[in-house]
Amino acid sequence: MKNILLYIALTIILTSCDKEKFNSDNSTQEPPKANIENLRQASYPIGAAININTLKNNVGYRNTIIKEMSSITAENAMKMNTISIGRKQYNFDDADYLVNFAQENNIRVHGHTLIWYKHTPTWVSNFSGTTEDWKTIMKEYIQDVVGRYKGKVASWDVVNEIINDNGTLRDCIWLQKIGPEYIELAFQYAHEADPEAILFYNDYGHEYSHTRRYTVNHISDSLARKGVPIHGIGLQMHTNINRSVNDLRYAIIAAAVTKLKVHVSEFDVAVNPDKKSITFTEELALKQKESYRAVFKAMMDIPENQRFGVTMWGVHDPSSWLSVNPDWALPFNDKFERKPAYDGILQGIYK
Ligand code: XIL
Repeated sequence: MKNILLYIALTIILTSCDKEKFNSDNSTQEPPKANIENLRQASYPIGAAININTLKNNVGYRNTIIKEMSSITAENAMKMNTISIGRKQYNFDDADYLVNFAQENNIRVHGHTLIWYKHTPTWVSNFSGTTEDWKTIMKEYIQDVVGRYKGKVASWDVVNEIINDNGTLRDCIWLQKIGPEYIELAFQYAHEADPEAILFYNDYGHEYSHTRRYTVNHISDSLARKGVPIHGIGLQMHTNINRSVNDLRYAIIAAAVTKLKVHVSEFDVAVNPDKKSITFTEELALKQKESYRAVFKAMMDIPENQRFGVTMWGVHDPSSWLSVNPDWALPFNDKFERKPAYDGILQGIYK
C-alpha cells in the first residue's frame, strides 16, 4: 500500500513539473536541434524494427539502417512461431542473418519477443503434459534462444502484451498451463541463459489508458522488488497524431518512476488512423513532428541510466506495418528522405 501511494505521489509530482516544462516549449520559435549528422550520433540509442527480406533486397533500406540506427529489433524473425518449428527444433536463419548484420555494422540488437499470446507454434498449441512439462518446454525454448545469442543480443522482451484492458492477466496458453507464475519463470529462465542480458516486460497502451499504464508499471515494480530479474519496461507506443503530446510524455515519465529502464520499443505515429482518403499535407507532417519531438524529449528528461532508447516500428513509411492504408508513420519517406518527423527527433534529443 505504501509503495502504491508513493508511486502515485511521484507520478503526480513528476507529471506536473513536466507539463510545465513541456508547455513552456510551445512558443512560436522553432526549438533548437541536435547538431549531429545522423541518429547514431544521438546520446541514447535510436533504432528500428527490421524486416529481413527487405534488409536483404533493398539497398536504400539497408543503407539507411547502417547510417542512422544504433539499435535494431527483428520485426518478426525472433517470434516463437518463426524460430520454433518443433520441440528442440529451430529455424534460426532470419534471426542469425539479423544478428550477423548487426555485428558487422556495430549495431545493438534487441530481441523481440520470447513469450507472447500470439504467434504460438502449432506444436505448442497441441502439446499436452503436466504443469512441470509446460515449464520444461518454456524453459527449453527460452534458454535455447537466449543462449544462442548470448553476448550478441543485448536485451529481450521476455513477455509481451500480458494484460487485458481491465488490468487482469491476459488469457494465454502459458497462463492456462502454468499459471501466473509463468511470468517470473520466463524472466528467471532468460536470466539464467544470459545473466548480462537486459530483460523487459513489453506492452502497449501506456499513453491512452490509466489502467494499462498503472498495471504494467505496478507488475514490473512488484517483480523487481521480489527479486525477479526484470530490468526494464517496454512501451510499444503505436500512436497517432491525434494523441496529445502530454499523454505521450506522461507514459514515459510514469514508467521511469519505477526506476527500471525505459524502452519506447515500437514507436510510430499514424497520420491517418481513421483510414480516410487523404494526402500527406505539410500540416499533417508538422503535427507528426510534434509527436516525435515529445517522445524523444521525454526520454531526455528521465535519468540517463534509465534511457534504454527509442525503437521505431519500421524504417521508412512503406516498411511500416501500417503501410497497407497509407499512414506515413515513420521519419523517412518512400525515398528514404528525412521527413519533418526527423527534425522532431533532432529537436527532442537536443541538450
Ligand atoms: C507485428 C508486425 O509488425 C507484423 O509484421 C506482424 O504481421 C504482426 O506483428 N505489437 C508487437 C509486435 O509486439 O510484435 C507487432 O508486430 C505489432 C504490435
